Amino acid sequence: MTTVRVGLGERSYDVVIEAGLLARAADRLLPLARGRVMPIVTDENVLPHLETLRAALGAAGVASEAIVLPPGESTKSWAMLEQLSDRLLDLGVERGDHVIALGGGVIGDLVGFACSILKRGCGFVQVPTTLLAQVDSSVGGKTAINTRAGKNLIGAFHQPALVLIDPTVLETLPPRQVRAGYAEVVKYGLIDDADFFAWCEANGAALLAGDLPLREHAIAYSVAAKARIVAEDERETRGRRALLNLGHTFGHALEAETGFSERLFHGEGVAAGMALAYGFSAAQGIAPHAAAARVTEHLRAVGLPDGLATAGVSASGKTLVGHMLHDKKMDAGTLPFLLARDIGESYVDKAVDLGAVEAFLDAQGR
Ligand code: GLY
Repeated sequence: MTTVRVGLGERSYDVVIEAGLLARAADRLLPLARGRVMPIVTDENVLPHLETLRAALGAAGVASEAIVLPPGESTKSWAMLEQLSDRLLDLGVERGDHVIALGGGVIGDLVGFACSILKRGCGFVQVPTTLLAQVDSSVGGKTAINTRAGKNLIGAFHQPALVLIDPTVLETLPPRQVRAGYAEVVKYGLIDDADFFAWCEANGAALLAGDLPLREHAIAYSVAAKARIVAEDERETRGRRALLNLGHTFGHALEAETGFSERLFHGEGVAAGMALAYGFSAAQGIAPHAAAARVTEHLRAVGLPDGLATAGVSASGKTLVGHMLHDKKMDAGTLPFLLARDIGESYVDKAVDLGAVEAFLDAQGR
């Protein structure tokens, strides 16, 4: 068992990582239940884990109420926010109560946002069931829904009171989903930890094949890395948290081009985006070509997209840069890029020439 503390003053909380934790979750949840009914919000794909969690709570004398939403990105909508908020209000949720978000990033983001506004903010607990949610979205308090103008454009920073991560829930996840989440694990190595990237090179394939101790290590390491960054820059105002967006600007363009659809999962877009960020850094003479090659080789070795072709994108540089200009990271008319000087040496560059990005992307397409 590993416990990582996210140190945010009065908003500090623990992230507990342990195989089999779901069945033992009541020990952690009992103090938050206050003798009241705990709402558990989940989606239709997570029903077996819902049963495990409800049984564990029931055995500890905690009553729960399940709210099961449709799976998929379209659940992060105004309509679902309204529906969920009404259900939680009907259940009489109070500010001091805790709603459990049991699911992937969609459930975590929607429930977190609903709880940020319910009675001006009630408590919630993240119980992430995808690798992507376990190593990224469940930690750090970013919550949001999508609108017709784009993804995650309406949201709030609202930290959970507790995050419970059971790596065994990944065993029932489709391998493609686990692989996509693994891109965010690799990201922590590329941001500022060359040793961890080397660990990924050595262990990534076995982790993806199902090795539980390796999965547990990667999750705990990733969560600790994220907790450090979030504690330094909770609201992404000091530049530090922006590093977590490595690969996301290029990746956003690829996701937009593929219609934010199942053609390219978010983690797959991030993988290809990280390869492009390193490739662009090398093309600009900022990073050694050998560093970009290592990134590409590792992503390819584990079956993740490593560029435009493997992401299934053939659009021009102009089209892709056009998508980037709709990115929510736009800042006073400029688009900050996450570039790298080497493996584990990423930085934010606010003066990237978009013409050079276009030319680089056009060259990739050839
Ligand atoms: N997923 C990026 C962040 O939490 O800041």
